[in-house]
Amino acid sequence: MWHKSDRGNVGIDIFGGDHTPDPTNLRNIVELLLTAHIYNQSETLTEDDLPAEIRKHYWDSREKKVKRPISVRVQDITSLYGNKNVEQEIKALPFIDFDEFGAEIRFTIPDLAKNWFVKQEDAMDKIRRNPTLASFYEKDGIDVSYEEATAYVRPKERDREYLDSLIAEIAASDDDVDLLTLVHLVAPEDVRQPIDELVLTPEQETKIEKIMQAIKHRDYLRDIGLREIGKMLFIGLPGTGKTSVARALSEKLNIPLVEVRLSMITSQYLGETSKNVDKVFELAKKLSPCILFIDEFDFIAKTRMSDEHATLKRAVNTLLKAIDEISLIDDGVLMICATNHPNLLDRAAWRRFDEIVDFPLPHTEMRKDILDIVLSRVEGDFDTQEIAGMTEEFTGSDLRMVVREAVLQSLTENRTAITQSDLISAVDDFSDRMRLMMKEYAVA
Ligand SMILES: Nc1ncnc2c1ncn2[C@@H]1O[C@H](COP(=O)(O)OP(=O)(O)OP(=O)(O)O)[C@@H](O)[C@H]1O
Ligand SMILES: [Mg+2]
Repeated sequence: MWHKSDRGNVGIDIFGGDHTPDPTNLRNIVELLLTAHIYNQSETLTEDDLPAEIRKHYWDSREKKVKRPISVRVQDITSLYGNKNVEQEIKALPFIDFDEFGAEIRFTIPDLAKNWFVKQEDAMDKIRRNPTLASFYEKDGIDVSYEEATAYVRPKERDREYLDSLIAEIAASDDDVDLLTLVHLVAPEDVRQPIDELVLTPEQETKIEKIMQAIKHRDYLRDIGLREIGKMLFIGLPGTGKTSVARALSEKLNIPLVEVRLSMITSQYLGETSKNVDKVFELAKKLSPCILFIDEFDFIAKTRMSDEHATLKRAVNTLLKAIDEISLIDDGVLMICATNHPNLLDRAAWRRFDEIVDFPLPHTEMRKDILDIVLSRVEGDFDTQEIAGMTEEFTGSDLRMVVREAVLQSLTENRTAITQSDLISAVDDFSDRMRLMMKEYAVA
């Protein structure tokens, strides 16, 4: 539809006929150029007013921002949208000037571009999700709102690029780069399962809601002197969703997650353990606001059972002290510890948490909900209620495995649609596995 006459004097003929530009590509190119043009001119716009893809592409990790001016070159378009024939394509647009040497693309007559863009098929959709464009077109009397557009753009804190630039800054100021080998860093955008794809108990939901309110009202809590908040202990069997919930909170709150396993920071050089503990907490404070997720928390109990490691004992004391000293209210660090063995923790460890969150085995309704989520994009004719009824004692992770088995089974038979009997036989296989596991357990 782009080559209709309402596009003005667009010389399609100069195209040479061998390559017809894709209208979607042209709209993307003009959106990018317009966004750059408006962003460059308006100092009041920030990185958060740019659509995430554009922001990520132009992110300057040293300065932690998108520097002005944003210049658009052929390779920017290729890397953002995958267009291969940018040079050819932009020839279809009369208001674009192409600098053959610098490969930079500019508007000759910006007003022409603005008018052309707003008449395009899905322009309104694009403008409504692009605060930079919305700010311009709103003033121009078009029915769009900058306010509403900002709601579509996720904040820069979600981006991997943002986290990476924080890390680069820390690495540059710290001789000890090994620090980053001790932890696993997750940016909100890295999280695959958002909180609404996890099936939670009402109790879990309440506790999560409470902590989110605490984070939102941090200043108020500090003002009234309520600081003992923001340390959670997740307890539950393997595969009940502890790690998934911690990550999903990072996604929900748009703050990074610093993941550390206690066994990891002791494994290499025992003598360094206390130092490592301190370093991890320091890192969390530097990345603040963030979540510090300490997995395998029961590891601290091991030290009490063998007294051969005085160094480990010292490390445990360092850890408990670090936990005491870190604060959500003052440092912006939400601490979540997780364990499969709550019974190994003594009172000294327990009393440090203001919220204990239990991850029980899912009951029948929860199992059905989990199956429905995992199967939501799987084709086939099946009854999740029946499967839920036959999977007592299965964890969320077990149920995912059952689905995986059923899908693989159907694929080996050249089907993509699964059947109820695929699921049932996957449950049977899994139950056999569990029996084998129990058998080994009994021998040991
Ligand atoms: N309640 C649940 N709702 C949806 N998915 C779940 C649930 N519980 C577990 N899962 C799925 O099972 C998998 C494993 O869960 P996760 O790693 O979070 O368990 P965990 O409690 O951290 O286990 P571990 O103690 O072994 O570390 C994830 O892919 C997760 O999506
Ligand atoms: Mg886990």
